[in-house]
Formats: sequence, C-alpha cells, structure tokens
Amino acid sequence: MNIVVVGSINTDLVINTNRVPKIGETISGNGFAVNCGGKGVNQAVAAAKLGGNITFIGAAGNDENGNISIKNLENNGIDTKCIARTNTNTGVAVITVCNGDNCIILDSGANNLVSKELIDRNKDVILSADAVVMQLEIPIETVTYVAKIAHSAGVKVILNPAPIVELPSELLQNTDVFILNETEAEFVTKVSPDTYENRQKCMNILKEYGIGTIVLTLGADGAVYTDENDIKHQKAFKAEVVDTTAAGDTFIGAFCMKMNEGIETAMKYATAASSITVSRKGASKSIPSGAEVDELLKSIG
Ligand code: RIB
Repeated sequence: MNIVVVGSINTDLVINTNRVPKIGETISGNGFAVNCGGKGVNQAVAAAKLGGNITFIGAAGNDENGNISIKNLENNGIDTKCIARTNTNTGVAVITVCNGDNCIILDSGANNLVSKELIDRNKDVILSADAVVMQLEIPIETVTYVAKIAHSAGVKVILNPAPIVELPSELLQNTDVFILNETEAEFVTKVSPDTYENRQKCMNILKEYGIGTIVLTLGADGAVYTDENDIKHQKAFKAEVVDTTAAGDTFIGAFCMKMNEGIETAMKYATAASSITVSRKGASKSIPSGAEVDELLKSIG
C-alpha cells in the first residue's frame, strides 16, 4: 500500500500527573519525557510499522527537534524527501498525562507553513499514491486543497479532523474515509455520542455528508462504523491503559493498511493495534509492529 501522509511534525514534552492543575496553581508531576510525535508523524509511523510504503509531506524547523523528528521518520522507513525545513520552530506539543488520559497544548510552529505551494511541488507523489492521510494540525486550506486534488484523481482521501475546527463542505465532499472521535463528532453534529441512540443519531447526521466510510471511535467502548447502509459496532480489546497518546493515530494508520481487505477486517486490526499503543508510554515509540498486532489477534482467536 503506497500512502502519503500530509501532516504535522511535533516534539512532545510530556509530564505525568495525578490530576490537572487549576488556573494559577502549581502541582507536582513526574516522569518527564521528550518524545517524537505529531498526529501526522504518528499516523505515518503506524502505517509504516504495519508494512506500508509511506511518504511524508510536511514541514519542520531548522532546529534540533526537526532533525530528531526527521530521523525518527527515517528510522521507521518513511520517505522524508518532501519535508520542507523552515526558519520557524518545529511544532511542540506540551502533554499532561493524567491517569492514562492526556491533555495537549500545541505550538504549531513550522506545521503552519505546510502550504499549497509545498503541495504543488509534490503533486506527483500524491497522484501516484493509493491513499492520502490527513489531520488538522496543518492549515485547513492546504488539507482542503490536497483532498480535492487527490479525490478527483481517484486517490483515496482519509481525513482525521483533529484538532477539530469548522470543516469546509468542499473538504467533506472530497473525503472518502472520515475517522473521528467523540469530541470531534459532537462538534460536527451537535450531538454528544454518549448513548446508543445518540451514537446512531451522530452517525446518521454524518452519513448525510455522503462520505463513503465513517468511523466514530469511542475509547473504551470501541467504535461504530458505516458498512454500506448499516451502522455496526466494533468492541474495544481489553488493555491496561498507561497512556492514550497516539492511540487514535495508531488506529488510523492501521485502518488504512487494511481497508482494502474489507471494513470488518480493518476495524478489528485497527482496534487491536491501538489497544497495544494505550498499554505503552509515548507517541511514535508506543506504536506496535505488524508482528505484535498479528500475535494479539491470534491470541484472541
Ligand atoms: O495524537 C497525539 C499527538 O497529538 C501527539 O503526539 C501530539 O504531538 C499532538 O499532536
């Protein structure tokens, strides 16, 4: 599978706490770590570790964080020739991990410079791919532009609308696979997917956009997804949750790798992969290999 990820590169500054501080309060944390992250990077690493042939289009600063992030992509076998280096700092995410869950504050830095011009320079790479995967940590105008170019050329567009903002209708019209979490679904549909009925409502509203495949991830409740006209449920796999950072990104990378084998296979595989990610600390480094996911699926039967 030839996949192009057009997305973000971040350096994650992580600290663990027992609770989130209030405004004006200082609390103690522990286990400070600096990790390679960014939703784009994590999704690219997930697809690469699971056997994909991945090219990354994005931007990093001319700084040490940029060097380390690009090395991380290369160490995972990802083609980095379409990454622009800029005088703006590499993106930084300040992450608080609190009882396994996380809060993130982002300084987009160089990610803001992923422009239409950068896309035009690398158009051939996009047009020769099987799929293009995007998130919203780069300018939405660029994401919309890529979706239009790719979709009209028959390249599958996978969109993860995170972090969520108002979505242009042109972007949704050119999306083939829409993978979002509960917060993002509530923002788009104005319905909180907190009960069975509300999840159905959310999915029915999302279906009206005419997108081929919709996946709504629900954390410990698994995910609901469209299969032709039906809405189906995939249960979560049991896992000891240590750090949920990059779990959604792992799901997306894994889903893309299996989507040509049918939606049920892709859902099960992506759920298994992300259940391993939540059991480990960090972003890119917590993502499992294909052999680890296969072993988990085999053990479950
Ligand atoms: O999805 C997790 C990612 O979100 C982190 O790696 C962080 O960089 C933020 O972008």
